[in-house]
Amino acid sequence: MCWESKLTDWYEEGHRDLPWRRTRDPYKIWVSEIMLQQTRVEAVIGYYHRFMEAFPTVEALASAPIDTVLKYWEGLGYYSRARNLHKAAGQIVEMGGFPATYEGIRALAGIGDYTAGAIWSIAFNQPAAAVDGNVLRVISRLYVLDGDIMEEKNRRTIADIVLAHVPEGKANTYTQSLMELGATVCIPKNPRCEKCPLMEACQAYAQGRTSELPIKKKKDKQKVVDRYIGIIERRNPHTGNREVLMHRRPPKGLLQGLWEYPGVENDNIKEGFAAEFGLEVEAKGHLLDCEHIFTHRHWKMQVYEVQLTGSVPENDEWCWASVDKQAELMIPTAFRKIQEYLAEPEQLRLV
Ligand code: ADE
Repeated sequence: MCWESKLTDWYEEGHRDLPWRRTRDPYKIWVSEIMLQQTRVEAVIGYYHRFMEAFPTVEALASAPIDTVLKYWEGLGYYSRARNLHKAAGQIVEMGGFPATYEGIRALAGIGDYTAGAIWSIAFNQPAAAVDGNVLRVISRLYVLDGDIMEEKNRRTIADIVLAHVPEGKANTYTQSLMELGATVCIPKNPRCEKCPLMEACQAYAQGRTSELPIKKKKDKQKVVDRYIGIIERRNPHTGNREVLMHRRPPKGLLQGLWEYPGVENDNIKEGFAAEFGLEVEAKGHLLDCEHIFTHRHWKMQVYEVQLTGSVPENDEWCWASVDKQAELMIPTAFRKIQEYLAEPEQLRLV
């Protein structure tokens, strides 16, 4: 029996019951695959349910304001994924429905080879390779492929193997079973080879090389950036609520268009805030330190209490937000520690 039949038989005997496995709706499969990029299954499930309740169809997603969509994405990170979902939802509605060809799917915003392959095989049950980290590992071990999996040509080899083995009429089960094996059995450390349906076919197992594979050369480290964040507070003149000054990030670049506690890279906050924002401030006491690691950046943040000595520009880049209002704004995970700190009732300082 060939390995792909053993694999799909194994999957059919039992697998994790995940919400996106209860549907063949390409819209729902697509959303799940986008959420699952760079995010663990357990972390995605709650987001997936809430997102589907809010946007049950591609039309509902396309007609929602982007800020509402981002709100449902808050905490998942990599916000360009949500922006592209929203953009592609608009493209799909304009086309009159979900594209029914691989090329049509691949052409949508934010959809690369992996996602197109996953949707085409899982939702449409058509032969395609959906090669994610799990699949790279499974195939590298099965065939003892020791080229660097960060290199495109080696990924291509793996995609070709995956595609060549799609069992007739079973593309859906095959794609899911490869992912399932990689997630539950052929795991990165201490793979559970004694439970593996492919043990006899696996060349890495036969050669005792599972722990060496796949080969993944280290990427360059993220650039470390020191960031000085200013917490500027006031009492709302009408409600008396404590409020913090929030800044909307520019529409291009890192965390585009999301709300932040204003910060600069200049360790002289007074100078930095004047140059970057045109705000006159005085730095007061140090409040806390925190950090956040993005794909290419590592922010080391020092957070200071800051007093406003001038006025705030009257435009939509700035707003005063109470603790409740902050919970409604799209504030990226990078600032979560600060948000939690400010939400503590005992953190009454300036006002
Ligand atoms: N990771 C990426 N896609 C997945 C899926 N459809 N099921 C489980 N894990 C996944």
